Amino acid sequence: MLTKASLAAAMALLLSSAATAAQLTIGFSQIGSESGWRAAETAVSKQEATKRQVTLKIADAQQKQENQIKAIRSFIAQGVDAIFLAPVVATGWDAVLKEAKEAKIPVVLLDRDIDPSGKELYLTAVTSDSTHEGAVAGEWLAKTVGDKPCNIVELQGTVGASVATNRKKGFDGVVAKHANLKVVRSQTGDFTRAKGKEVMESFIKAEGGGKSICAVYAHNDDMMVGAIQAMKEAGLKPGKDVLTVSIDAVPDIFKAMAAGEANATVELTPNMAGPALDAIIAYKSKGTTPPKWIQTESKLYTASDDPMKVYESKKGLGY
Ligand code: AHR
Repeated sequence: MLTKASLAAAMALLLSSAATAAQLTIGFSQIGSESGWRAAETAVSKQEATKRQVTLKIADAQQKQENQIKAIRSFIAQGVDAIFLAPVVATGWDAVLKEAKEAKIPVVLLDRDIDPSGKELYLTAVTSDSTHEGAVAGEWLAKTVGDKPCNIVELQGTVGASVATNRKKGFDGVVAKHANLKVVRSQTGDFTRAKGKEVMESFIKAEGGGKSICAVYAHNDDMMVGAIQAMKEAGLKPGKDVLTVSIDAVPDIFKAMAAGEANATVELTPNMAGPALDAIIAYKSKGTTPPKWIQTESKLYTASDDPMKVYESKKGLGY
């Protein structure tokens, strides 16, 4: 038979386990706004939190890890229910993530990974397989050029970022299997349009006006949009004389594809927050532990995919 005390205890348990999303406050340490994709990810995160009535506090780190660490410490001091972190680089998180763990605040990584040694310091990571993205880009290029010799220039993402390391690794893995493919220049463009253009200008100069360049591989579309500009200004024809393949699938690359100035992109969804919010809500309300990795899709788009239609369909997705 239920006593008054056991009934009260059962009610309290029921109420605590029914913690609703509306009661949750989550701190999101965002990298900055270096690319169109990043701006869309921030916008989508706000939309997804609003949908679930979660209070999302976003701290923009302006590309600096020290700002991210400060933001995490401030979220811990405020006693938030969870922390989302898009880590600008892969290393240097152990101390601050240990502090979050001691404060019993679960951390979810969004879109980038941290050094494997820190795996026990976060609950789950919502990311794509960035090594696979690089491989998809490489396979497309290998198939497109066939047996022809092809000198490639590469625009890398932010040095030390997991996605830059992995996108390079995945692409290099394919290049290693094809004797006719060769990466002749590779440098960081920090994921920005301006630096992508600047570095591409220097590649063109170093390659005698760019005539020997067969393809450009950029770790994101923004750098490719900058590189396309640089090629056009140098009198080259991107998308025709020089093949392009990049990552993100932002609207501007589809515009370039429609104009015949870009060839291929691998999609990275800007909706990392939706699955992360669902995981945290289930964890907080039902104690469900999510898988360690929630993987998002990596789809290849080429000029044969009706780029203007894709461009239109991207509207409202944070872009
Ligand atoms: O971590 C994801 C990468 O970060 C995107 O591909 C790039 O555009 C952004 O800056």
